[in-house]
Amino acid sequence: MTSAGQPSPIRVDDELAWARDRLHAAGIDSARSDAEWLLADVLGVERGRLVILDDLDPTARSRFRTAVDSRCARIPLQHIVGTAAFGPAELAVGPGVFTPRPETEFLAEWAADAAHGSSAPVIVDLCSGSGALAIAIASIVPGADVTAVERSPSALEWLSRNVAAAEEHGVAVTVLPADVTDAGRMADAFPGGTVDIVVANPPYVPEGADVAPEVAHDPPEAVFAGADGMSVIVPMLTVVADMLRAGGVVGIEHDESTSPAVTTALAATGHFADIRARDDLTGRPRFVTARRIG
Ligand SMILES: C[S@@+](CC[C@H](N)C(=O)[O-])C[C@H]1O[C@@H](n2cnc3c(N)ncnc32)[C@H](O)[C@@H]1O
Repeated sequence: MTSAGQPSPIRVDDELAWARDRLHAAGIDSARSDAEWLLADVLGVERGRLVILDDLDPTARSRFRTAVDSRCARIPLQHIVGTAAFGPAELAVGPGVFTPRPETEFLAEWAADAAHGSSAPVIVDLCSGSGALAIAIASIVPGADVTAVERSPSALEWLSRNVAAAEEHGVAVTVLPADVTDAGRMADAFPGGTVDIVVANPPYVPEGADVAPEVAHDPPEAVFAGADGMSVIVPMLTVVADMLRAGGVVGIEHDESTSPAVTTALAATGHFADIRARDDLTGRPRFVTARRIG
């Protein structure tokens, strides 16, 4: 209480500090930024505007503390706020779809670079999930003909919703419900040699690997790929080789333990050159890119 008998103001700074400490104690590395995202969501303001706010009302504090409790239970931040930022895209996400991860933005930037100078590149996003890569790339590359391929019915619901929202902003993506390892189906959809760029963030975690608690909220079929993490990537490579034109390129995200396996599998097809292992921003080998030879 203040000296005049009024309740003490609830300071934004104090609440953020309280939340940061709780989130940190729950094992969350990004405690301060998660606290800010949660408070911005509760208040319905841009995160950057928090600095100009002084006080919270008790209802907002109660809602904020409930959101912090959920995050401390390791519910993904994106499930709590309902969206995931991914490059220029904002995706609706929740149960039934993989939460896009920031490191995957590398593939969107790589594809945009690869498309540079091409007027209407044909680009395919295999294992599209929420549509993060497809929608980000279609936003960045004007005139691109982008198709998002996904198999899971629940992911397809989120994907269709995100594609419809992107369309309202003039960003066009075609959705193809299909199994990326089904060579016949994929050949029907992408007749041989017609695709310029393929990106893929397939399931790739070896079964039984240690994962962060948040991963329990991703569908298992989006994450795990057999004992070696390669059960989707290997059959997918034949499909990729079939759809790419000579000189077309592919970029694949993979587990940090499988870079040699992915480069070896690409080489073993006999269809790729310039096979290059690439690191993420923390220096871990997480991507392989390659060029289709004629
Ligand atoms: C790691 S998530 C990536 C989602 C999205 N590309 C991203 O980066 O956020 C892998 C996605 O592949 C889908 N998937 C798994 N196996 C598949 C298959 N054989 N054919 C098509 N999609 C598949 C899963 O349902 C999931 O949505």
